[in-house]
Amino acid sequence: MSKPRVLSGIQPTSGSFHLGNYLGAVKQWVELQNTHDAFYCVVDLHALTSSPNPEELRKNTLTSVAQLLALGLDPENCTLFVQSHVVAHNQLAWVMECMTGFGEASRMTQFKDKSAKNGTDRIGVGVFTYPMLMAADILLYQAHQVPVGEDQRQHIELTRDLAGRFNHQFGETFVVPEGFILKEGAKIYDLQDPTSKMSKSAESLSGLIEILDTPQANTKKIKSAVTDTGREVIFDTAEKPGISNLLTIFSALTGRTIADIQNDFVGKGYGDFKGAVAEVVVDYLTPVREKTLELLDDPTHLRTILSDGAAKAEAVANATIKDVYEKIGLIARG
Ligand code: TYM
Repeated sequence: MSKPRVLSGIQPTSGSFHLGNYLGAVKQWVELQNTHDAFYCVVDLHALTSSPNPEELRKNTLTSVAQLLALGLDPENCTLFVQSHVVAHNQLAWVMECMTGFGEASRMTQFKDKSAKNGTDRIGVGVFTYPMLMAADILLYQAHQVPVGEDQRQHIELTRDLAGRFNHQFGETFVVPEGFILKEGAKIYDLQDPTSKMSKSAESLSGLIEILDTPQANTKKIKSAVTDTGREVIFDTAEKPGISNLLTIFSALTGRTIADIQNDFVGKGYGDFKGAVAEVVVDYLTPVREKTLELLDDPTHLRTILSDGAAKAEAVANATIKDVYEKIGLIARG
């Protein structure tokens, strides 16, 4: 029997991924490439919604690819590509936009948050149509599962609705995908504001652990993480969100259970605990940072991987778009 398929994507919107991206999504990508037929893309078209500087976008796209490889993606074991290299993403996105209700799209929380914050005159239509492009990314590959963090759950629900709607109207065409969302770690919180998710768009970077930041900078950020009242290291998201977040990070990076880690810190204070978390994070990220920098020294190698990936992705995506165009009544070019 053929392996089930997974697809996921990540935006190249910053010079480095953060720990939330890794623990919420990319760590699962690495594991799933061994058991699934895996497609992973750097979604540069999605990144255009934040109007990046062209030079930075080019640089961040290659840095994203290098980080994914350094974090463990193996191009022999998965298809790694850049979204804009496969034109069918835009083609299917338009079809999805024509099938989505205006009200339905207006209810997407990311759009609502951004428009409430900046006003609808200041955000682009791309922010509004963003989830339909994401649905196209997933449906083109007939993915069974989509490994993402908690913040993408609503987009996956929309994708499922659109797949079902299309299948109902035009006949069985798309696999209806499921989100692959962890119970623990699907939402890593900001170290300075442990009730908000860790995010590159946070107002201050002091609560963000970047994969490519220096060991010194990350140690400093962890040691100055906001902690809670009391002094016991106990997992309690309501009373101790800061400590619970650090325990989640510690557990995810070491594979140890939270109970086991708590035991180590009985009778010790927050200072000892934060020192230990800093050590775990730095030990984990230092080789990733080094490997990323080494890979970036050879952009030709990265581009070859992407070109092979795009060819493999395109073969699957083009077959889907051909089927879709036929089903919805567009005539083939003679
Ligand atoms: P993006 O680029 O914002 O984030 C990439 C992945 O990281 C996860 N993530 C988190 N997980 C846990 N805690 C956090 N604090 C945290 N912050 C981010 C995200 O959930 C995501 O899985 N729309 C997507 C990109 C996308 C996509 C797709 C994903 C485009 N097309 C198709 C899956 C399938 C996004 O903006 O992710």
